[in-house]
Amino acid sequence: MTVFGNQAVRDIETVLHPYTNLATHRDTGPLMLERGQGVFVYDTSGKDYIEGMSGLWCLSLGHGNEELIEAATAQLRKLSFAHLFNGKSHDPAIELAETLKALAPVPTSKVLFCNSGSEANDTQLKLVRYMNNALGRPSKKKIVARDKAYHGVTVASASLTGLAANHADFDLPIPGILRTACPHHYRGAQDGESEDEFATRLAAELEALIEAEGPETVAAFIAEPVMGAGGVVVPPASYFPKIQAVCDKYDLYVISDEVICGFGRTGKMFGCQALGFRPDSISVAKALSSAYIPIAAVTIPEQMYEAMLVESRKIGTFGHGFTYTGHPVASAVALKTLEIYAREKIVEQVAAKTPQFQGHLRRLADHPLVGNTRGLGLVGGIELVADKATKQGFDPKRGVAACCVRFAEEEGLIVRALASDTISVCPPLVISPAEIDEMFVRFDRALARTLEWVRKG
Ligand SMILES: Cc1ncc(COP(=O)(O)O)c(C=O)c1O
Repeated sequence: MTVFGNQAVRDIETVLHPYTNLATHRDTGPLMLERGQGVFVYDTSGKDYIEGMSGLWCLSLGHGNEELIEAATAQLRKLSFAHLFNGKSHDPAIELAETLKALAPVPTSKVLFCNSGSEANDTQLKLVRYMNNALGRPSKKKIVARDKAYHGVTVASASLTGLAANHADFDLPIPGILRTACPHHYRGAQDGESEDEFATRLAAELEALIEAEGPETVAAFIAEPVMGAGGVVVPPASYFPKIQAVCDKYDLYVISDEVICGFGRTGKMFGCQALGFRPDSISVAKALSSAYIPIAAVTIPEQMYEAMLVESRKIGTFGHGFTYTGHPVASAVALKTLEIYAREKIVEQVAAKTPQFQGHLRRLADHPLVGNTRGLGLVGGIELVADKATKQGFDPKRGVAACCVRFAEEEGLIVRALASDTISVCPPLVISPAEIDEMFVRFDRALARTLEWVRKG
């Protein structure tokens, strides 16, 4: 039986942990982190770990960035809080909106701030409804999302999410969400189907879905450029262009969920630029502030803004927004983050480190436990299988990826187990080449121990 320290006991007695098996947690206790510097975090015993997941795909500039700390502190001193309701404003929000408008990969009229990726995608769904009511097409409301998508956990964004655990017993999804296939060639392709043929089939399936539902009822399509929590799925190169053609044909509003991919992760500033599609709007969060403080945003094209003007005039107000929409401290930190990305040429940095990072992933594909590796820029997934030839996975109850993640922790590396025994790696964008090598040395050790564990049965 594990004997817990005082902090662990207090945790178990008080804190409810997201994305945790609540029953198991009572037996295993927490991993107690105390401090961080750069790409390293340290637990309460002083042991170091490489932050192989940038926290939750978000800590792009690593821990302890003094410029971000200073930006937050200075803004806290100057104007600790101000809201944007009833036409009030402040400089950090205006400057951040201007910067995002200039940076956005899509024509943008306005920027609407939120506090999380979930809120951003929830907002997207509401804005699509609002716009189509204003445009006099009230039946055009359904939104297409993909199997294995991750768009968040609030009622609407969890409904857009295509993962069973986010729906089961929460009575989700809500009506009006259509589901189309995940572009996972390794798992989804038919025998002998090339990546391009697979992409063609998925686009045809999307078209058939829209036709079956009635194009006049289908309003939007939402997608992560590279799927994160659903298993780090990088679509075939021709997938998005083919999907975009279908969306254009049926006048679907295309939303790129850039919550993970935004701000350099894929080697381009935005994931839609890396994957070759032109959304109408993007959702951003996470790396917008390098995760130092919660802030998110959605971009609003002119046509939507015009429609929102009509609605707010009719109703008397635009009845949406959060207390902390455009919080001045979060805005100041985000502005400083974007300034650092530009100054440090973060996109070029990622592009330069990509061959080394992706080379390690490709090397891992030869390991007896690894069925498939995939990635783009500085994000990757490693899928463990029981039989490489047949792609047969392990019995999920064995928790093989979770076991590998535990071994990795013991070896001083934090990575994450996703569904289908896929392990994700997503280090801070500022990781050095030497730290990338060290990260994979630690991962190799964890994988070797996992193989031994699997072989012992
Ligand atoms: C692609 C994507 N969208 C949305 C979200 C939800 O963001 P949040 O957890 O900030 O609500 C996440 C979180 O991981 C994400 O990966």
